[in-house]
Amino acid sequence: MGYYRHHLFFCTNQRPDGAERPSCAQCDSPRLRGYVKKRLKDLGLTGAGGIRANTAGCLDRCEEGPVLVVYPEGVWYTYVDEDDLDEIIESHLIGGKPVERLMLPEPV
Ligand code: FES
Repeated sequence: MGYYRHHLFFCTNQRPDGAERPSCAQCDSPRLRGYVKKRLKDLGLTGAGGIRANTAGCLDRCEEGPVLVVYPEGVWYTYVDEDDLDEIIESHLIGGKPVERLMLPEPV
């Protein structure tokens, strides 16, 4: 097993106004990543052997964002709000059942 049971990476990239591609920070990803970080801590799920939620730069799936990816499974998600993220925490990270309705498609 890795150092963390689950390791989450939230794209928090912010492009300047007028950029050709969207950026996840336009969808409030820095704040929502902070929400997950606090929620995991409040649930006692952080630390070695637990779950960590880190920020990341652009993950190159900008048009599908905001995006986050969960390792070691390599499951990609998009989300809208705290309710979506709570569902990922409860179903996937705690219950072991990925949330299919929020998963991004596999590359072809
Ligand atoms: S800006 Fe988030 S994936 Fe590119």
